[in-house]
Amino acid sequence: MIDQQHKNSAEARRQAIQADLDAGRSGSERNRLGQFATPNDLAIEIARYTQTVAGNSLSTIHFADPSVGTGSFYSAALTVFGSERIGRALGIEIDPAFGDAARDLWGDAGLDVICDDFTRVVARSSRPPSPNLILANPPYIRHHHLGREDKQRLQALVSRMNGVEINGLSGLYVYFLLLATAWMEEDGYAAWLIPSEFMDVNYGAALKRFLIDRVTLLRVHRFDPDDVQFGDALVSSVVLIFRKAPPVHEHVVDFSFGGTLGVPRVCDSIRLEQLREARKWTTFPNNHKNDRSTPTNEDGPTLGDFFRVQRGIATGSNKFFILERADGERRGFPEQYLRPILPSPRHLQATVIDSDSKGYPLIDRPLCVIDCDLPEHTLKQRHTALWNYLQTADELGVKDGFLVGKRTPWYKQEQRKPAPFLCTYMGRGSDQKRPFRFVWNRSQAIGTNLYLMLYPRNALAAMLRQHTSCAADVFALLGQVTGHELRGEGRVYGGGLNKIEPRELGRISAASFVQLWPQLGAAVQRQGDLFD
Ligand SMILES: C[S@@+](CC[C@H](N)C(=O)[O-])C[C@H]1O[C@@H](n2cnc3c(N)ncnc32)[C@H](O)[C@@H]1O
Repeated sequence: MIDQQHKNSAEARRQAIQADLDAGRSGSERNRLGQFATPNDLAIEIARYTQTVAGNSLSTIHFADPSVGTGSFYSAALTVFGSERIGRALGIEIDPAFGDAARDLWGDAGLDVICDDFTRVVARSSRPPSPNLILANPPYIRHHHLGREDKQRLQALVSRMNGVEINGLSGLYVYFLLLATAWMEEDGYAAWLIPSEFMDVNYGAALKRFLIDRVTLLRVHRFDPDDVQFGDALVSSVVLIFRKAPPVHEHVVDFSFGGTLGVPRVCDSIRLEQLREARKWTTFPNNHKNDRSTPTNEDGPTLGDFFRVQRGIATGSNKFFILERADGERRGFPEQYLRPILPSPRHLQATVIDSDSKGYPLIDRPLCVIDCDLPEHTLKQRHTALWNYLQTADELGVKDGFLVGKRTPWYKQEQRKPAPFLCTYMGRGSDQKRPFRFVWNRSQAIGTNLYLMLYPRNALAAMLRQHTSCAADVFALLGQVTGHELRGEGRVYGGGLNKIEPRELGRISAASFVQLWPQLGAAVQRQGDLFD
């Protein structure tokens, strides 16, 4: 039993120790073990909300935090539930410096600490008794930092303990959540602070199904990536609160976005059926104040009906293959093996790109990409200057890259026709500000993979062939796609960086195209009928 004053002073010491331990580790060390502590205010807010939803059902608490750090969540549990209600408490921590600190700070207040890897502790037949309350902020370790054997071990373990098959692209937090839930008591409560990425990407599908079918998901609160109130570590994070019990029929989940868990900016109740059908969960609540909400009408025409969307080319080494046109000329490289290419979006100021007589963009210092299909012996004989330049690839290590290594000849690029419209592939932007820009390309330049290339297709292509002047209207309509729509279909990464893949751009509503040219709507309809 510990009184409140004693608890407060332990919490103050914890914060000081946490700051010291963090300062003693480099950014990459902290990343390797996912060491970003939960601010205590937030831990308290999460614990408080969990108490509200649990009501009296947790009369005696058996607490666990599977990656306890210095114990921010245990400290919060003491504040919210009081030590007299806590019957048992366990923290597991892989890093002895954190584990020892947690034991020193909270041992007297009833916390047992095991210094070990949680995923191994939970796998043992002699694992510790099951908790009925888990408050956790697991390590955010991405899949490519998990060794192959570790990944296989974790996948097999989750398959055994949860009966769930996990996609190998999942980060460690997915395994943590599933394993800890398998370990916990039936009817227990859990709150997890995790990255929101799983809500939108393919690898999140298994976890989403688990949250729909196997537990009763009560609350999903996503922080606003632009809201810096909790510091960088919380960017793109979500809090999930659930009870370990199958959901009742007609269950609805409270989804909220922005503000705090207690006072969110927007909230809505979402039926499990809606969640089951939704590709992305970050679009809930569907409200313009949600940075990911999308007014896209799923049944209406989409950009994908009118454009084939394709990433620009990946050269394998832009520094080597892309050069200024003037430089290519000065070096005497043959014109036919240099293709105009747009500079990276950072260096492209204009959104309407005009062309010179050779198809090069009328911009400062236009660029070209080396793209040649001649076999090496012919190239060597016929074009010495280009051949000599290409010989420098060896010492620069250009040919060691995966992309370059698998091409024949290795200096031949992926083939793309110039696209009349492009969209930048990544960027920042909140509220009305659009994270991506559309470009009207009237030159013969292609784009690198920092662009998506939009090739008009079907009825739109036919219309543009007949009436070239309509291209300006097409560009104007693309310019009306809102920041909300773009963010809603794209995905957001830590730090608020948005990206959009070709299929995602293709899903954006093109209703405005049909409003302007109703004949396009009829054409889309007919294609739809073919597949019905
Ligand atoms: C995101 S921090 C959260 C710490 C603490 N729960 C909090 O909320 O402040 C994740 C913690 O997990 C620990 N960790 C990393 N891998 C682990 C593993 N396999 N088993 C147990 N703990 C681990 C890290 O050392 C780090 O302290």
